[in-house]
Amino acid sequence: MSFVITTPLYYVNDKPHLGSIYTTLICDSIARYKRLTGADVIFITGVDEHGLKIQRTAKNKGVEPQFHCDEISDIFKQNWKNWDITHNKFVRTSSQKHEYIVKEFYNRVKKSDDIYMGVQKGWYCVGCEEFKDNPDNSPTHKCPIHQKTLEWKNEENLFFKLSKYQSQIEELIKEPAFIQPKERRNEIINFVSKGLKDFSISRTNVSWGISVPDIDNHTFYVWFDALLGYVSAISLDMKEPSLDESIDNGWPADIHLIGKDILRFHAVYWPAMLISAGMKVPKKVYGHGFLTREGQKMGKSLGNVLDPDILLSKYGKEAVRWYLLKDITLGQDGDFQNKRFVDIINNDLANTIGNLLNRTSSMSRKWFDNRVPSNEMLSKDNSLELYAKKTVENYFRHFNSYELDLAANVILSLAINTNLYLNEKQPWTLIKDEKNIPLVSNIIYNVLESTRIVGLLLLPILPNLSSKIDQQLGLLYNEKGSWKKQLDWGKLIHESILPAPNPVIEKLEYE
Ligand code: MSP
Repeated sequence: MSFVITTPLYYVNDKPHLGSIYTTLICDSIARYKRLTGADVIFITGVDEHGLKIQRTAKNKGVEPQFHCDEISDIFKQNWKNWDITHNKFVRTSSQKHEYIVKEFYNRVKKSDDIYMGVQKGWYCVGCEEFKDNPDNSPTHKCPIHQKTLEWKNEENLFFKLSKYQSQIEELIKEPAFIQPKERRNEIINFVSKGLKDFSISRTNVSWGISVPDIDNHTFYVWFDALLGYVSAISLDMKEPSLDESIDNGWPADIHLIGKDILRFHAVYWPAMLISAGMKVPKKVYGHGFLTREGQKMGKSLGNVLDPDILLSKYGKEAVRWYLLKDITLGQDGDFQNKRFVDIINNDLANTIGNLLNRTSSMSRKWFDNRVPSNEMLSKDNSLELYAKKTVENYFRHFNSYELDLAANVILSLAINTNLYLNEKQPWTLIKDEKNIPLVSNIIYNVLESTRIVGLLLLPILPNLSSKIDQQLGLLYNEKGSWKKQLDWGKLIHESILPAPNPVIEKLEYE
């Protein structure tokens, strides 16, 4: 079973910011989960290199656009390495194979009689690379996202007949699974109900782009070119890959995970382009929310941008992953607050999960000769076992519906409950009487087993912490595809040796 997931292709006007890290971490976690459940995952990410914005950025730096793109694209690749991103396709839209796919695709759309020459007049945001409504027609009108003055454009462009696909797009977006979450779907339904307008797919004033075959001075509009990056990502690594082969290699995508600002392109323009070219539409478009900082929009001009490199070196990737994936509901906006960040990491990871592991493994080592105790009385007390089973069920349900925060929260609840179980049973009092040894061994086994399941469930979300927990419990999971089976209760082998203690997570300090 194959599963194709994509991040947006990031503009190379600058190095990755926390917003791009956020989207990529979500995709990484989903990709890891799908792999663990046995899917053959194609995880696509990459960079969007053409267009006016990049052309100007390179010009301002005094370098050639290709030089600039090579530099930033390497920084993106290095960042994904630093954050342990497990993508297997990194696409660059300035590559030759991508150019070839764009041209082949364009020819198909042309054959469907969906291209014509027209005049494009309107207000343009270079930051968004998109025409915007400017109801008051004022030359100082600003883009609500970039807060930059819009530019007036009036030029001859090629147009794509989007209006022709009105009813097909209406049908598509009616399907609740196609656009998620629900609120985002409603926005798009509303937009489409006003009537789709044809959109321009070429430019005459942008040299940094893919040239339109047979038409002098026209390059493709950056969005027409960029969306096709998802297709060229899975095409064969050759200069002239065939579009049909890309289709055979896994198209369509199972999920495009994107920010809410680029939903129209993915849920309306893109499916229409694909239908025109005789290709399948993606199965799902998921629009996540925006990150703010201490309640304020993050922006260079506001001077409050969080540098992901600093977060990474100061707190480590596991802490940032946990905060972004557990504390923010996918689809809603999320706020990054320093104090809350430190509190959550200390409470959830250090005090609840780390402490549970330390106290149980040290009791076990002390009372049972550095080993996992016997579980022979297992049937007598199965409250924790039942709780763990329910946790696993809920976890799968949440992950399958992309409710990553809820999946993370059920893991945390299992850890909290396991700590409570321990406090209630008080094995440290029971052990004082020798006749209680079987009972204590059962309690400790249950707690260790529950902790093992906590560690396993963490694997797609916090891969490093998860493997540290395994190590601390003396576990080695080498068998491929065994993750789901290992989640069954009772897999911890009694008498197995527990290694020497080694703290798995450190507490963070306030700044
Ligand atoms: N190049 C286009 C995407 C083309 S996909 C074929 C683009 N690039 S982008 O770099 O500007 O944005 C990439 C993603 O980052 C978008 O999904 C955008 O929503 C997301 N984010 C940018 N700022 C963000 C936050 N502050 N918070 C969360 N994500 C945000 O658009």
